[in-house]
Amino acid sequence: MMQQWFKDAKLGIFIHYGIYCDGNWSESWSFHNGDVSYERYMQQCEQFTASNYDPAKWAKLFKKAGANYVVLTSKHHDGVALFDTKYSDLSVVKKTPAQRDLIAPYVKAVRDEGMKVGLYYSLLDWSDLRYRSVYPEGQSPENYNKNDIYGCPMGAPEDPEKWEEFLQFDRDQLREILTNYGKIDLIWFDGDWERSAKQWKAPEMREYLHGINPEIVINSRLRGYGDYDTPEQGAPVIAPARPWEFCMTINNNWGYRKHDNDYKTSRMIIRIFCDCLTMGGNLLLDIGPKADGTIDPRQEQILLDLGSWIEDNKEAVYGTEKGIDYRYFLGGSTVSKDRKTLYLISYDRPDEYLCVKGIKNQINRISVLHSDETLQYRHAAGQLWINLARDQQHRFSTVIKIDLDGELELAGD
Ligand code: GLC
Repeated sequence: MMQQWFKDAKLGIFIHYGIYCDGNWSESWSFHNGDVSYERYMQQCEQFTASNYDPAKWAKLFKKAGANYVVLTSKHHDGVALFDTKYSDLSVVKKTPAQRDLIAPYVKAVRDEGMKVGLYYSLLDWSDLRYRSVYPEGQSPENYNKNDIYGCPMGAPEDPEKWEEFLQFDRDQLREILTNYGKIDLIWFDGDWERSAKQWKAPEMREYLHGINPEIVINSRLRGYGDYDTPEQGAPVIAPARPWEFCMTINNNWGYRKHDNDYKTSRMIIRIFCDCLTMGGNLLLDIGPKADGTIDPRQEQILLDLGSWIEDNKEAVYGTEKGIDYRYFLGGSTVSKDRKTLYLISYDRPDEYLCVKGIKNQINRISVLHSDETLQYRHAAGQLWINLARDQQHRFSTVIKIDLDGELELAGD
């Protein structure tokens, strides 16, 4: 069910953590795509110690970054559970030297920092033979020519009973993660695309989850039977009609990769965050901790920069709603819930004026949000021309606060 906390959250942190964090091969996809054999991929279990796993430290960092919720991969497409599951031997508890449930301390740490707890769960499981029991709907052994040895029976007949068993397995594991650690606020499904809503029994699954926790927020990747949309990697140009969250990697990979140095800069990340905020969505920013559980200092620095920008400008972030159309202002903006304050976000660094068109209200005051410095402005040609000098600007993006005499009224709206 969509919850107000989700709409107000603005920023979440996504964590891809698992045996793949050794950093040589990508999460799950590497064996699926043939970059590494399944056997070699699974050998990564032997090195997975999680020896410096300290989710309390993570949670403190995420809080500092300004996040209000966190989503951790409880099980990726490789099927390796980060939790102690009764229903399979494939877990970090049974198969790795970490030998312990990693979800319990994570849930506690996130809760202790007052953030909402999310868990990612891959519906598909490329390690489970029962998953390979049916073809994607509409496909049959004759016309199914994809070489997908992990996803379907590969020329063999279907076995609907096995598929039923697999669905029950997913349900059983979901009950474990949603009940063994107290209340989980959000379930983040993935890997729904190889089967149809009918095959997944998506409506029944939704009901099943609500039976466990009627307040749980469910992302869209249950073949559309969730509560909100999840555009991925490409920032939306037009905001989705439903509530939404844009998920994006901090560099080019979801999980930690040794040679991925292609980090987005802090300025870029802040701008992308603002873009989501001003279009009415959340950003779910993904990081990939190393196998021992520590976070690369470059990832940490970006989170700290983002957090310091949000801290300096929090009035324009939390408790606001999406801003005015670009035809009024060529930048981002948010509006306070009482609609009496407009916040303009200047992404670039103007040398003199910022212009905003069409405001019909009287202006009480215009100021720089982070410094509270009052700004001079004038009206000309029905536009507000706000002076903003270089030395008044924030090192990342400057927020201009416009106090209005009443609720915002725009010409031509
Ligand atoms: C994709 C990928 C997966 C990743 C996810 C995060 O669906 O399959 O590897 O975890 O995106 O959004």
